[in-house]
Amino acid sequence: MIERGTIFCDNNMAEVKIIGFGEGIPKRCVSNDALTTLVDTNDEWIRSRTGIQQRYIATDETLTDLCTQAAQNALEQAGITAEQLDLVIVATLTPDLALPNASCMLQKSIGAVNAACFDLSAACSGFMYALNTARMYIKGGAAKYALVVGGEILSKIIDWTDRSTCVLFGDGAGAAVVAKSDEPGILDIVLGTDGAKGEALMLEERPSDNPFRRQYIEENGAIETNLPSAGSFVSMNGQEVFKFAVKRVPECIFKILENTGYSVEDIDYYVLHQANLRILSCVAKKIGVSYDKFYVNLDKYGNTSAASVPIALVEMSKKGMLKKGMKVIMVGFGGGLTWGGGLVII
Ligand code: COA
Repeated sequence: MIERGTIFCDNNMAEVKIIGFGEGIPKRCVSNDALTTLVDTNDEWIRSRTGIQQRYIATDETLTDLCTQAAQNALEQAGITAEQLDLVIVATLTPDLALPNASCMLQKSIGAVNAACFDLSAACSGFMYALNTARMYIKGGAAKYALVVGGEILSKIIDWTDRSTCVLFGDGAGAAVVAKSDEPGILDIVLGTDGAKGEALMLEERPSDNPFRRQYIEENGAIETNLPSAGSFVSMNGQEVFKFAVKRVPECIFKILENTGYSVEDIDYYVLHQANLRILSCVAKKIGVSYDKFYVNLDKYGNTSAASVPIALVEMSKKGMLKKGMKVIMVGFGGGLTWGGGLVII
């Protein structure tokens, strides 16, 4: 069934379960205080407006290094080998190279020789979009085991002289191994997009330049386009993104609950994209559930975009918080503007 702006998935085919999580985090930890040497900011402003206390920034690590670490950890927890993977999807905005893409480089690095590999671009919702894609391959019988990775080296697309963005982000990767299962796993995923609001979070692509275009400009003057110029770094209208998140995320959660027949209280944990503490508490208030059910680790990592949800799940798993049978709602949201949420049974 397809409705405007939102994709609902048919739940009547094979069950699909997440059977392993893993993370790859850069070594270098950067405190809020360290950023005061780069821009006019302070620890108190960053903590009170965002909840972030530190982030990890890649120095000698590539995206492939971080994704490899995450993938190997996830494969180990899943108890399968890289050769058993039929599919590798990397959700990223920041591949090491445009060609080969991040998933091909990861395939080479982990030896997933039997997997079809591709990248997926859906910004901070990328992990959820990739998870749903893998789920559909498995449900449709086109794959048995899939590796889904959300990974970013955002530090390379951030303007380190812009205090309104550089304090927010961090680098990292998170991975999940997804498999066909006899028991319930991923019960539902709801995805959505509002492209009309895309200018709220932008990153310019390589400018178009070819001899024919130059000739056209010589003969006709500058080309008028309706594409806004964002500069070569991430630019953001923070308040627009904030308003978008606190509207769309609760809607997404309610849609998942409606589709699956559960109530807000039935859910053991809400694992949302780790963008801002105020967004998380606002969402908790809007859906009327105790904030204790919201997992928070943005204080440690900042906003790691597509990596934030799987990194949070790894931490929860390591702390023994995720018990078999628990119900967890995950939601990613961000650039596009996009959002994607799902309900999984652990
Ligand atoms: N340190 C100190 N001051 C800063 C600052 C920083 N790092 N960044 C901005 N400021 C200043 C601004 O210049 C402004 O000063 P002014 O009042 O003199 O003009 C003031 O703080 C308030 O800025 P504003 O942008 O209105 O703050 P805000 O309360 O909206 O908080 C965000 C900014 C970015 C933290 C907030 O809008 C937000 O979290 N939005 C969502 C962003 C997000 O999650 N994006 C990723 C989604 S995937």
